[in-house]
Amino acid sequence: DKNVATLVERSLVLVKPDGVKRALTGAIIDRIERKGMRVIAMDLRSLPRELVEEHYAEHQGKPFFEPLVSFMLSGPVVAMVIEGHRCIEAFRTLSGATDPVKAAPGTIRGDLATDVGTTVVQNLVHGSDSPASAEREIKLFFPDLA
Ligand code: TYD
Ligand code: MG
Repeated sequence: DKNVATLVERSLVLVKPDGVKRALTGAIIDRIERKGMRVIAMDLRSLPRELVEEHYAEHQGKPFFEPLVSFMLSGPVVAMVIEGHRCIEAFRTLSGATDPVKAAPGTIRGDLATDVGTTVVQNLVHGSDSPASAEREIKLFFPDLA
């Protein structure tokens, strides 16, 4: 029964360039910690194009891919690994829907992101969407993490 045992997971979280520019990193970390998840690795960095293209490989060929890559290169991001019970799904719930217009109030995107009307959705955060994605993305961003 999954409700009996704890399932400690790790997830890769990014505060995207819009979040860093708007100085929302602290507010986002605050929500992560208040929810009971912990930050176990973190830094501010400018991403090389190859890393962004690899990170978003599943979206290659889609109309928003190039705008998405450009957006992710438009300024530094805060990359972190979070840890906690079912934190992959928990962080996705905390983030809200991809489209900030549809993201529920109370979520990071629902409360803090706005549709800026460009070709790419500027929605403040990334969070891994499955255990397999989390493992792949953590290796990509934090290869030295134990
Ligand atoms: P996706 O992985 O589908 O969303 P999420 O970040 O919620 O996991 O898409 C990756 C990013 O690509 C998304 O955060 C914003 C951008 N994007 C668009 O700009 N337009 C779109 O139609 C979609 C689906 C995503
Ligand atoms: Mg995704």
